[in-house]
Amino acid sequence: MAPATDDTAALGDLRREVEACTRCALHETRTRAVFGEGDHASELMFVGEAPGYHEDQQGRPFVGAAGKLLEELLASIGLTRQQVFIANVLKSRPPNNRDPRPEEIDACQPYLWRQIELIRPKVVCTLGNHATKLLSGDQTGITRVHGKPRPMEIGGVSLYLYPIFHPAAALYTPAMLATLKEDIARLPALLAHAAGAAPEPAPEPAASRPAWRPAAAAPAADSSAQAEKTGAEQLGLF
Ligand code: URA
Repeated sequence: MAPATDDTAALGDLRREVEACTRCALHETRTRAVFGEGDHASELMFVGEAPGYHEDQQGRPFVGAAGKLLEELLASIGLTRQQVFIANVLKSRPPNNRDPRPEEIDACQPYLWRQIELIRPKVVCTLGNHATKLLSGDQTGITRVHGKPRPMEIGGVSLYLYPIFHPAAALYTPAMLATLKEDIARLPALLAHAAGAAPEPAPEPAASRPAWRPAAAAPAADSSAQAEKTGAEQLGLF
C-alpha cells in the first residue's frame, strides 16, 4: 500500500532535517547523516545502532559487512532490503564506531519516533541492545529478549517490537548467527499475525508523555494485549 502523500512529504522534510542536523557533536565528525531507506509503506522496519564507516561515506544504512548479512537474512525469508525500511538509533557515525552516548541517543531519538509514526510498520525489528533498549524502554539485554515479540504502541502505532541480535555481532560468533537465523525465520509468521490482528493500542494516551517517547509496553494484565500475546504464543512466536 502506498503511504499517504502527506506522510511521504513529511518523511522528505524529516530527511532534510536529519541531513542538516546539529543537535549533537557527531555532526562535526560525520561525513554524511544516514536517515534510513527502503519502502516508506513497509509493514516491517529494522532499527540498527548507528552508521559505521561505509554508511557514513555513502549516507545509506547497512551497506557494509553487517548489511550484507542483513540482506542474506532477508533473502532467507523472501524479502529484499527495498521491501522493508531500515533505520538506526543514531543518524550520525560515532568516531571509530564507539558505542552511542546517552546524550547522542537523547538528541537523535525524536527522529526515530517520527519515522515510526510516519511509516506505521506492524513489526519493528530491533537489531541489538541499543535499539532494543531504546524502543522497549526496558534495560533488559538482547540475550534475554531476542526472538520474543512484544506488543507495543509507539506514536499512535500499534505494533510488535521484535528484538534480534545485531548482524555485526553475529558475523563473528557462529552460535549467535545460528540464533539470529532462527529468529529471522519466525518473522513471516509474526508479520502475518500482526497484519491479521494488530494489537490494540496500549491504554496510555500519547498526549500524556513527551511526543517522542513510546508508551510503556502494554501490561500483561491488559486483556487485549494478553489476547494478542496468546495469539502469538499459539503461533510459537514466544
Ligand atoms: N550497523 C548499524 O547498526 N547500522 C548500520 O547502518 C550499519 C552497521
